[in-house]
Order: sequence, then C-alpha cells, then structure tokens
Amino acid sequence: MNNTRAIGFFDSGIGGLTVAHAVRKILPGESFVYFGDTAHHPYGDKSTAAIQAYAVKICDILLRHNCKVILIACNSASSAAYRLVKEYVGSKAEVINVIDPVIDYCSKHYAGKAVGLIGTKKTVGSNAYQKKIDKLGNDINFKALATPLLAPMIEEGFCNNRISEEIIQTYLQDRRLEGIEALILGCTHYPLIKTQIERYYQKKVEVLDSSDIVAETLLSFLKDNDLLNNSGLPPESKFYVSDYTHSFAESARMFFMEDLNLEHYPLWE
Ligand code: DGL
Repeated sequence: MNNTRAIGFFDSGIGGLTVAHAVRKILPGESFVYFGDTAHHPYGDKSTAAIQAYAVKICDILLRHNCKVILIACNSASSAAYRLVKEYVGSKAEVINVIDPVIDYCSKHYAGKAVGLIGTKKTVGSNAYQKKIDKLGNDINFKALATPLLAPMIEEGFCNNRISEEIIQTYLQDRRLEGIEALILGCTHYPLIKTQIERYYQKKVEVLDSSDIVAETLLSFLKDNDLLNNSGLPPESKFYVSDYTHSFAESARMFFMEDLNLEHYPLWE
C-alpha cells in the first residue's frame, strides 16, 4: 500500500532539523511538515505546563496537514509532553519521541555498563531518561549532566571554534560523567557538535546521535505498518516557524544542510 501522507516533526526551533535531515537520508521519498516553535525557544527553560500547551497547539497544525506520524524532534518536549501528545493525537497519527529509541539502543548494547547523557535543564531535570532506564532493570549505571550553554551556543553558529571547544571540554570534564562508555546526545541541537565531542573522547566513548537512531525507528515503523510512501512522486516538504527572523533562516540551512524555505506560521493569532 502507498501512503503519501507526510511525516510531521516539531521542535522548539530548528534543532529538530537534525532529526529531519537524518530521516531524509534514509527515507528520501517521504513528504515532511516541520514546525519549529521559534517564538517559544528555548523549551529547555520552560515549565512542563507551557511546553505541553505549545505541543498540543502544534499537533493541531500537523494533524490539519494530515500527517501519518508526529515525531517529537525535541528531547525537552519528549520529556515534558510525550504522554499527553500521544493521548491527544489518539489514533489519528502515530507519535514517536526521541527518547525511547535511544533507551532501546542502550538496553541492547550497554546493559551493566555506564552511560552518560547531556541535555537541557528540562530534559535532565525531568529524569525522563533515568526513569525509563530504571524500568528496564538491566543495571545501566546512568549519569546525567545538564549542559544549558550548548544549545544557544550552537544556535549562534559557535561550532568548531576555540570558544565552543572550551565550553564542550569544560562540560565533558565534569566528574559526573567519569567512567562512561557511551554518551547520549540528549538534545537535537547536539549532532552539530558531535565531531568535537568524538574528538574529545578519542574513540574511548561511543557518542550516540539520537537523530540516526530515531530515523531507523521511524523507518521500521513505516515498513512494519505498510505506511511507506512508494508512490515515486517527488516528496513535498513544508517548514514552518512560529516566529521568523533572518538569522533563524540562516541557521536552519546549517541544521538541515541544504536550502529550505521557512514560512512564518504564528501559533496564536
Ligand atoms: N532541541 C531542544 C531539545 O532537543 C533543545 C533546545 C531548547 O532548549 O529548546 O531539547
């Protein structure tokens, strides 16, 4: 069966474009609707209630576009709003978050070992990863560190320079991450600094880029449920932001690694 309905993505801004890009690489025939809630960026410092309200509003837009899957391409929103969104969307679309696929990966490859996580204050403070790992009961020694400077640093284009090197090193030297064998990049901005993080660990720690792992999960879901778009028609993609600035448009290019047209779509008019 052919299913030409689009994949919906949302994030607090453009970080989720790293997930959309990973999906584009392995699912080039799928149409996208991407919503970056730039008016409310960053989610990492917002309350759970605020993030839930934004998420529901965005889901309305993605459902109006008849998306077959809603991929919450943001760790902060996945930790604060996944359950609510899943309930809200019901049977209208599948909802996938960016946390569960990574937990599954760790449970397969890192049982009994030490795994670290870096992410926003919201993601780390919610203990969403810790709770899911505890439920597995497979003895993962989980260590988490909030790294709130990283997302704004990346948004400002500070990747691969002296300042970003200094900030990344300072965080990774933190004693709370000592002894880890894998590090989860628990923020969809972080794939843009993956090379620097890998350089720091010199292959002694596996750096887990959740965007690739999540893209594989989406691929399996579409295959297993006969929902792939095999129509051969060129995919259509729409990229919306709730607040438009030129600098966001510039950064979006960096995140998606190709030109794209961002349209302004206010959440509340
Ligand atoms: N992309 C968001 C995430 O994955 C981080 C940025 C923010 O604080 O909004 O958590």
